[in-house]
Parts: sequence; structure tokens; C-alpha cells
Amino acid sequence: MSRKSVLCVVGARPNYMKIAPILAAMARSAALQGRLLHTGQHYDESMNDAFFADLDIPRPEANLEVGSGSHAQQTAQVMSRFEPVLDANPPDCVLVVGDVNSTLACALVATKKGIPVVHVEAGLRSFDRAMPEEINRVLTDQISDLLFTTEQDALSNLTREGIDAARVHFVGNVMIDSLLWNLKKAVPASETLGESLANGFGVVTLHRPSNVDDPEILGRLLECLAVISRKLPLVFPLHPRTRAQAERHGLLPQLSSLKFMPPLGYLGLLGLLKEARLVLTDSGGLQEESTALGVPCLTLRDNTERPITISQGTNILVGNDPARILAAFDDVMATGGKRGCVPEYWDGRAAERIVAILADWLDNRA
Ligand code: UD1
Repeated sequence: MSRKSVLCVVGARPNYMKIAPILAAMARSAALQGRLLHTGQHYDESMNDAFFADLDIPRPEANLEVGSGSHAQQTAQVMSRFEPVLDANPPDCVLVVGDVNSTLACALVATKKGIPVVHVEAGLRSFDRAMPEEINRVLTDQISDLLFTTEQDALSNLTREGIDAARVHFVGNVMIDSLLWNLKKAVPASETLGESLANGFGVVTLHRPSNVDDPEILGRLLECLAVISRKLPLVFPLHPRTRAQAERHGLLPQLSSLKFMPPLGYLGLLGLLKEARLVLTDSGGLQEESTALGVPCLTLRDNTERPITISQGTNILVGNDPARILAAFDDVMATGGKRGCVPEYWDGRAAERIVAILADWLDNRA
């Protein structure tokens, strides 16, 4: 019997570490043939190529080169450029990961063509519709035929929205597959930072519109980080969106204890996370990665779609009020922070489970 073809979609940085283990597991499978398409939502060397190299992701068969734009423009561009590619060589199903604009856009095109959609990392909810990703999550799940979840709570979110539990499978976290597979290859922090931070450091990332688009909020956060850095030096790889906004308004403090750098590749960041005393972030991925590594994480948001990182992991929500962030930071320094444990099935085998279930599911449809 010929292998069923699965067209996997990536578009933006957080997709790459999720797709890499899935493609690797498909390459080992006799039942599935993984194909890869890139929408081009992210395109900078540092946001894109570096990850393909670090994670050993094969070259995509097509790149739609949509680039940046408003949400409507970006989503529309992905949709109209994806359709002819799909028509030219239709797969047995389209697999999307995460919650970026490319995820929803490709799922929508495929489902309207009657091509089954598979969503990996389904059912996460922040219950905050002001987050563009929340809209992408809710809608992608609604139109997906097969849904893979990273934590048990996700199933109740999906059934509440009318999704049949029979379509949902709890498989664990493919992003943690990547983390565990690459831990030994991580670039040592000393190589990235020199010896200057040998006595301990924290890692910061911020890119959410709610934290970086308003110069007043971003300015307050950067001042707060400057205060923290006098107690624990901080390293801050800057997302292009954050750098552009901070530079436009002259907000970047000049301090040797607060080290700004360009976005790091996967192995570079992993090396920093491994050795960090603490992570300050608004990223979804870093909340999970710090939980997997047992590193305390302060999340500069009011909510999270990944509640298991709080109930079981090392994560604490601190919002973006400087007084609250400083108090939480002092507490981590005094107590060492939450210990946490690694959630069920975050064991490096999620992609393997996905491939087994998907192969069976496609077989039964044939
Ligand atoms: C997107 C995802 C977000 C994810 C984040 C990780 C959506 C709705 N958001 O947000 O969930 O956490 O990726 O980075 O899909 N830019 C560059 N070079 C690039 C890419 C972007 O300079 O390679 C700049 C552009 O100015 C662009 C801005 O960053 O306008 C935002 O990029 P965009 O893809 O719209 O969203 P992100 O903020 O990266």
C-alpha cells in the first residue's frame, strides 16, 4: 500500500520546533509521507533559517512568501497563495500546528476543499479574545477533523465548544520532543554570552502586542527589567517587532547588566534556558520549555492558554505591572522559585504517538 501524504504547514518561528519532530517521525514511518510547506509569515534569517538549520528541518517544497502585514492581509495572502499549491498536488490531509495566522489560514483553505485537517496543539484557551492567537485557536479547532492535545484540560475546552471527544487525542507535547532531543546539542551559555554572566543570569523575551505595541507600557517594562538586572543580570534577545518599537521611541536602556541581542537560534536559546536562574516572558512556548527544564518562569501576562505550566510546572502569571513583577522576582530570588514537575506525556514521544494515530485514522477513512 502506498504511503498517505500529509502536507505539514509552517509559517512562523514557534511552528518550527513543533513540526521538526513530526516530520522526523513521519520519515521513519512506513505509513505516512510527510511533506512541508512554508507560508513565509516569518522570513528573517534569525527568525527562520537559523531554526531550519538547528532543527534539521528539510527544505519546504514551497514557500508562499507572504511576509508581514495586517492580520487580514496576512491571512488572506496565505489563503489565496495556498489554494493553487493544494490544487496542484492534493495531499491526503493537511497538518497544522499551534495558533499563528498561517495555522488558521491553511486549515480554512483545506477544509473547504474537503481535505481533512489535523491540528496539533489543539484545545488550548486563554479565554482572552483580544489575543489574535485565541481567535486562531478556536476557529482552527472548529474546522479540524483530528485534534491532538498537549494537556488533559484541553479536552474539556473542546467538548464545551461542541467538538466530539472521539476526534481528540491526548498525545503530549511535540515542542518538548524537540527540547529533549536537542538538549545535548544546545549551545553553552558561555559561548553565547562570554564569561561575563558566569555568576548567573535571567532570560527575557517579550513580543506580544499587549506588552510591546504601546510605548508607555513597553517603556515601563524596560525600566522594570533595568531594576531587576541590577540584582540579576538579564539577557534579552529582541523580537524584531519589539526592537522596532523600542528604537522608534528611544526606550532601550544602556546598561551592561541588561544585555540586548538579536533573536537567537533554537540551540542558542535552549542553551541559555538550560542555565538560566529564571525566565521572564510573554511567550507561550517559553512557559512550557521552562516547565520542562524546571526553571522558574514569570509570565508577563494576565492569562495563559497553558494552565498546566502553572498547576504542575514552574510558571507564575505576573501581568505587566512593575510592582507585581518586582515582588515576584524577589520571591524567586529568595526561595529559588517553584519546583514544579514535568507534565504527563511531555516525554519526547508525542510525535511518535501522533504518527501512529494519524496513520490508523487515514487508513480507516480510505
Ligand atoms: C507571530 C504569531 C505569534 C507568535 C510569534 C512568534 C500570529 C497572530 N502571531 O507574531 O503567535 O508568538 O509570531 O514570533 O500569527 N517581523 C520581522 N521579521 C520576521 C517576522 C516578523 O521583522 O521574520 C516583524 C515585522 O515587522 C512584522 C512583525 O515582526 O510586522 C510581526 O510579525 P507577525 O508575523 O505579524 O507576528 P509576530 O508578532 O511575529
